[in-house]
Amino acid sequence: MVTKNLFLPTILVSLVSFSFSTSFTPTDNYLLNCGSPTNISLYNRLFLADSAKPGSAFLSPGHSISLKNQNPPSELPALYHTARVFTSSSGYKFNIKKNGTHLVRFHFSPFVAQGFHLNSARFSVLVNGVLILRDLQLNSTNTVLREYILKVDRNVVEIVFTPVNVSGFGFVNAIEVFTAPGDLIMDEGVKLIGAAGSQVYKNLSSQVLETIYRINVGGSKLTPFNDTLWRTWIPDDDYLLLKSAARRANTNYPPKYEAGGASRDIAPDNVYMTAQEMNRENSSYQTFNITWNFPVASGSARYLVRLHFCDFVSRVLNSLYFNVYINEYLAYGDLDLSTLTFRVLASPVYVDFVVDSVDPGVVQVSVGPSVLSNTLTMNAILNGAEIMKIENIESEETSPKKKNIWVVVGSIIGSFVGLCLLLLALLLAMKCRKKKPKPRPAESVGWTPLRVYGGSSHSRMSEGTAYASPGPNGYFALRIPFADLQLATNNFDQNLIIGSGGFGMVFKGVLRDNTKVAVKRGVPGSRQGLPEFQTEITVLSKIRHRHLVSLVGYCEEQSEMILVYEYMEKGPLKSHLYGSGLPPLTWKQRLEICIASARGLHYLHTGSAEGIIHRDIKSTNILLDENYVAKVADFGLSRSGPCLDETHVSTGVKGSFGYLDPEYFRRQQLTDKSDVYSFGVVLCEVLCARPAVDPLLAREQVNLAEWAMQWQNKGMLEQIIDPHLVGRIRPSSLKKFGETAEKCLAEYGVDRPTMGDVLWNLEYALQLQETGQQREPHEASNINGPEPPTPGSVPHIPSNNIRREGEDGNYNSDLSTTKVFSQLMTNEGR
Ligand SMILES: *[C@@H]1O[C@H](CO)[C@@H](O)[C@H](O)[C@H]1NC(C)=O
Ligand SMILES: *[C@@H]1O[C@H](CO)[C@@H](O)[C@H](O)[C@H]1NC(C)=O
Ligand SMILES: *[C@@H]1O[C@H](CO)[C@@H](O)[C@H](O)[C@H]1NC(C)=O
Ligand SMILES: *[C@@H]1O[C@H](CO)[C@@H](O)[C@H](O)[C@H]1NC(C)=O
Ligand SMILES: *[C@@H]1O[C@H](CO)[C@@H](O)[C@H](O)[C@H]1NC(C)=O
Ligand SMILES: *[C@@H]1O[C@H](CO)[C@@H](O)[C@H](O)[C@H]1NC(C)=O
Ligand SMILES: *[C@@H]1O[C@H](CO)[C@@H](O)[C@H](O)[C@H]1NC(C)=O
Ligand SMILES: *[C@@H]1O[C@H](CO)[C@@H](O)[C@H](O)[C@H]1NC(C)=O
Repeated sequence: MVTKNLFLPTILVSLVSFSFSTSFTPTDNYLLNCGSPTNISLYNRLFLADSAKPGSAFLSPGHSISLKNQNPPSELPALYHTARVFTSSSGYKFNIKKNGTHLVRFHFSPFVAQGFHLNSARFSVLVNGVLILRDLQLNSTNTVLREYILKVDRNVVEIVFTPVNVSGFGFVNAIEVFTAPGDLIMDEGVKLIGAAGSQVYKNLSSQVLETIYRINVGGSKLTPFNDTLWRTWIPDDDYLLLKSAARRANTNYPPKYEAGGASRDIAPDNVYMTAQEMNRENSSYQTFNITWNFPVASGSARYLVRLHFCDFVSRVLNSLYFNVYINEYLAYGDLDLSTLTFRVLASPVYVDFVVDSVDPGVVQVSVGPSVLSNTLTMNAILNGAEIMKIENIESEETSPKKKNIWVVVGSIIGSFVGLCLLLLALLLAMKCRKKKPKPRPAESVGWTPLRVYGGSSHSRMSEGTAYASPGPNGYFALRIPFADLQLATNNFDQNLIIGSGGFGMVFKGVLRDNTKVAVKRGVPGSRQGLPEFQTEITVLSKIRHRHLVSLVGYCEEQSEMILVYEYMEKGPLKSHLYGSGLPPLTWKQRLEICIASARGLHYLHTGSAEGIIHRDIKSTNILLDENYVAKVADFGLSRSGPCLDETHVSTGVKGSFGYLDPEYFRRQQLTDKSDVYSFGVVLCEVLCARPAVDPLLAREQVNLAEWAMQWQNKGMLEQIIDPHLVGRIRPSSLKKFGETAEKCLAEYGVDRPTMGDVLWNLEYALQLQETGQQREPHEASNINGPEPPTPGSVPHIPSNNIRREGEDGNYNSDLSTTKVFSQLMTNEGR
């Protein structure tokens, strides 16, 4: 998630968020001074008398008593001088204007009056029938605050205090019920840390969360004065395991909220302006962790751990890499805050994790340098931490009879559902396992693809990205002898180099049968790109599509890693857009290229059982053949979609800067909507003919997506289009195109269209350009699924292109890869 302000001019944003920094206005906002006939102000907030008039709007009928402390300590705020005591189940009712996440706080400050020793009270509290506080005993005379974050899905919040027999009464001094900012707790799924490996915890916003710790790491106590949600943050010193390992750091400059994921409502300035960093004074070259231990109740429970970061410590970007551990599990490896914040230093972000508590009841958080750290600058920081217990919700039934029936029915349904789930899980597990072919004896040493399945240390692959069987019809058939490739590339002639990248060099080559190929050769002897290499083989050998660059073969001899692709005569889309002096493409050509790549991507997402996420969509990974037909290339980073427990891949952020889905790298979660975002950036590039990121431009123009969406929002997108296109795009076509890009770039993945929808919209934009006519309204409003393409808008397919797809672009699975291979090999001129 990016702040909502991402697309506004950044300077404006700072001003706006600054002037409103202390004025978050909740829709529902109930503050009660319980047991008192007077209104009282605390921290600039007015707590209303709950007993001004009998049967007042909030107090439910039932037996309760107003109690006043006759001798309050002088320093105790007046809010705590009174309390309401409940001697039978009763409480308050608040009308709710806005459904969704709310904060509920209870203030308990025991005193003695009228024979009631409030610190001996024992009671439970229910909110809308959900037991959130069971058998509370305070024992002390200190003021205790309990805070809950919960979702309200009805028009009322009803709070009931139920005395437990022993004491016979419950009490409360003050209550707060107010609407939380919409982005406080979100539902994209949170990384679940535990023995089972990394999984995803979903549906967080439906849970009741109880705040256990709220820590301003490296800083001082923050009171509700200093927080837009009136929270209290306490210093971390008491929880540091080894105080000498950490050193306080702080900055005088307010954090730059606009870039990263956090807003002032997530945590206030002061949290992000202080931190603990590694104290390397005595031990400059040693690596060690800074560790905090937060005691929690023992027993099994789950906790949401929200960690806040703001890198004001680094002097330059991308110089701080560190690992985050929770309960000794690696929670986030090689965390690079620069990437998370779109390359802005001192910009706040937060990352959520869910953990199970471990005996003897502790949540342990550690940060320490990663292997990517430079020894000179190695460091690790933490600015803030929140730990919230995820409550096991129990609903209290009102009628015991009903309860019994429901228990019986419930258990029947429950066991049936349980059985079904078990079956489903078994089936899925079998499916996942089936996809992992049995280990075979290694036929050759080194990085042969077989190792992928052999349970070797390259576990990233064996964890579930096994794609194709290496059987006789699998990708073994695509092996090409090294000698053939030497011949094809004139022994890797430097003059034939057509590109280079992280993986190595790309050479133009001609095979014996005159097939033109692109030969991608990994640095010999280096294992650097091994996982990507294997991914690419397994993915590509399985997938054939007109708009995906085909793998012609691969070579794995003599510690070489070589991939051989069909040759794409016209090279990357990017060089036809800007920077290379090639003649500009027409709008129609550009639309056709976008449509073709959308089609390739749509097939990638939906065409195979698992669905594949490309992960690195950008204009250099869209290649054009001699007829300007676009194909999506470079699957080195791609992953298969969710398969039970590997819903999201979290091996660190990969992809290209400027195209990265903000939601993806903040949550380390990958969905096909991440590709949609990147594709939206490509659409902007195609329209504006400039790079996704251009650091030399004025600040508000640096990020293309941001810049383009500013103009799109103003309805003046035509102001910034490629000068070559001015006057050549029909307004209706541009409008459709702009809207499509805008949807792709939506802040949240759920709001983005699928590639199928994008495809449909682009086809429509092409049709508008060609005919200038709108479709029928009912057609135009169909954004739910791709329609069969209208014949006129299908990009021209060269006649010598072999037919290896069905009408819908699907690979005809009857055709064995060997056949495809031989067809490719004999297909001349490509
Ligand atoms: C408390 O404040 C509310 C809202 O401002 C007002 O309606 C009410 O009369 C006040 N009550 C007392 C006792 O001052
Ligand atoms: C209060 O005292 C009871 C009994 O001594 C104990 O079980 C309970 O844990 C105590 N509660 C707190 C909050 O200390
Ligand atoms: C809240 O949700 C409930 C159930 O979904 C609905 O009946 C109610 O009208 C909603 N209230 C508001 C204020 O939206
Ligand atoms: C609580 O009191 C009620 C009524 O006096 C009694 O029926 C019930 O058994 C008591 N429960 C406990 C747990 O003591
Ligand atoms: C989320 O959890 C709540 C409560 O546990 C449940 O009622 C709801 O159906 C869940 N929603 C989804 C989408 O799983
Ligand atoms: C918190 O707010 C109070 C009151 O506005 C102010 O005096 C204090 O300096 C603030 N604390 C910090 C750390 O900013
Ligand atoms: C650094 O040295 C001081 C003084 O010798 C010592 O007290 C402190 O524990 C040392 N810190 C570390 C991290 O070793
Ligand atoms: C940091 O803590 C983690 C988890 O406990 C541990 O695996 C790692 O070795 C520690 N690193 C250092 C340098 O002590």
